Amino acid sequence: MHWLSPFVGLLALAAAAPSPPATFTEPVKGIDNKVFKRIVHFLKIAQATYAGDSCHIKNVPRLATFYNATTDIYGWISRDDATRELIISFRGTVSDINHDQNLNSTLADMSATLPECVGCKSHGGYYLNWLSIQDQVYARLQEQQEAYPDYSLIVTGHSLGGGLAGISSAHFLARGLRLTTFTYGEPRISNPAFADWLDLHFKTGSLKTTGYLRTTHANDGIIPIPATSLGYRHQGLELWALDPPSAQNTWVCPPEGFCAEASNNGTGINTPHIFYFGVGSGNCTKTV
Ligand SMILES: *[C@@H]1O[C@H](CO)[C@@H](O)[C@H](O)[C@H]1NC(C)=O
Ligand SMILES: *[C@@H]1O[C@H](CO)[C@@H](O)[C@H](O)[C@H]1NC(C)=O
Ligand SMILES: *[C@@H]1O[C@H](CO)[C@@H](O)[C@H](O)[C@H]1NC(C)=O
Ligand SMILES: *[C@@H]1O[C@H](CO)[C@@H](O)[C@H](O)[C@H]1NC(C)=O
Repeated sequence: MHWLSPFVGLLALAAAAPSPPATFTEPVKGIDNKVFKRIVHFLKIAQATYAGDSCHIKNVPRLATFYNATTDIYGWISRDDATRELIISFRGTVSDINHDQNLNSTLADMSATLPECVGCKSHGGYYLNWLSIQDQVYARLQEQQEAYPDYSLIVTGHSLGGGLAGISSAHFLARGLRLTTFTYGEPRISNPAFADWLDLHFKTGSLKTTGYLRTTHANDGIIPIPATSLGYRHQGLELWALDPPSAQNTWVCPPEGFCAEASNNGTGINTPHIFYFGVGSGNCTKTV
């Protein structure tokens, strides 16, 4: 199967007949230690991506960077031989250009690039950001997938980077790629149709099945924006990390109305948004 064929991807999705999501309706306290370690691991990579080209993570060599100067969107493709994974990470907000895009909450029709997701709309600024970088990402990823054909794909990012991770993940999935997505401090990115599509195809109905782990933290002020009154809805199962960070202190929550969204009394880019598990945006941890 050629991974770039969207039609092969669609058939694979149809054949897989994903089961309906949302089987749980109440938050549950505590997660498996292995899952906790995984969400902390990818958080470190997502936060390190802000540090730019000078940051090198031990045992996770960077294979490529992608950048569009017009939109100031930047990210890495890295490789982890221990877990046999290729990791795409998107940087979050660092500039006024990024911030202007954050504020464009007009819902964008995605039918030009994601026709299989009927009626789906995403955050207008992030969608334009994705369009500005998609050719580079597909090209760099294809090179690495040809070199490491049996490696699985991970997509991650924090904040705006989490939004791009979410939107790009839908596109990767529609191209027949199998992947797991880890986002942190992700704002709302979808209308209800897109949220449902992500829930269905990433099987977010339980922590056992989900391919999309959306981690939130305490009262991170970015989680509740853009507002549901603007036509937005969070997709996916949420992992709500409380302090002090631990597997036991992390909740598994259904989207909307619970956990970070319900308890949220923070606004904008506050300390709980910048620091996850004690690691701040731009911290280049595990450096050589
Ligand atoms: C906001 O996003 C929409 C949808 O992507 C786009 O049509 C519009 O041009 C954007 N506005 C600005 C000011 O970039
Ligand atoms: C960068 O983004 C702009 C705006 O979307 C686009 O016109 C341009 O073609 C992109 N450049 C590259 C190299 O992809
Ligand atoms: C805000 O929410 C957090 C939990 O997200 C809670 O610990 C804190 O007490 C709340 N603060 C106020 C003033 O309600
Ligand atoms: C870690 O990140 C925070 C928040 O961005 C920053 O203030 C701090 O200087 C960083 N520390 C290091 C060692 O990079």
